[in-house]
Amino acid sequence: MKTWKMAVLGVAAIGFSAMSANAGELDILKPRVPADQIAAAKAMKPPFAVTQDMIAKGKDVFNGAGTCYTCHGAAGDGNGPGAAGMDPAPRNFTNSKFEQVRTAGEMFWVVSNGSPLQPAMVGFVTAGQITEKQAWEAVIYERSLGCGGDMSCVEGSADWVSKQPVHEEAAGNLKPEFLNTAAK
Ligand code: HEC
Repeated sequence: MKTWKMAVLGVAAIGFSAMSANAGELDILKPRVPADQIAAAKAMKPPFAVTQDMIAKGKDVFNGAGTCYTCHGAAGDGNGPGAAGMDPAPRNFTNSKFEQVRTAGEMFWVVSNGSPLQPAMVGFVTAGQITEKQAWEAVIYERSLGCGGDMSCVEGSADWVSKQPVHEEAAGNLKPEFLNTAAK
């Protein structure tokens, strides 16, 4: 009897936590980098060749010094233990559509300076928690989660991103406020 009750409670708890895991991400088309800095951010490139070795180093930062997994989840899907109730929710890096619209440089800017739209995503470099090199490594690892084995996608230059098709889901959100405007 007791075991039966616990099993039911367990299932209920799993159902509840899955539902309330987070409040949902903000639109991927809404840039995080302020308008006066976005061109420079988009043009930034990793200061090293993007290799499997760098991806592995980034994984160590993500799960280690950077503590990124606590919010973004061990799988990088945005469902880490710290994500509960966060609004907007941590980015899901396994969504390949995100990598299609964001350059690695823009992501690096956020890891350096923080997200103007979510104070929980602090500037890990300016706060001194990780170095610039570690921030680039973490970004490269995060991109690899949605890019599969496509290294040009992992590198995510502005040139590469501009060639990606704008998917339907995103096209519906192409309102002026989501395009290259200053972050609110
Ligand atoms: C305390 C929770 C938390 C931690 C720890 C955290 N993040 Fe985030 N991160 C967030 C949230 C929440 C967002 C969504 C913010 C937004 O939508 O602007 C986010 C967004 C991002 C973005 C995407 C911004 C965009 O362009 O849409 C990147 C890149 C990122 N985080 C990288 C990292 C890296 C790398 C680390 C570890 C060094 C890290 N985060 C650690 C909460 C966190």
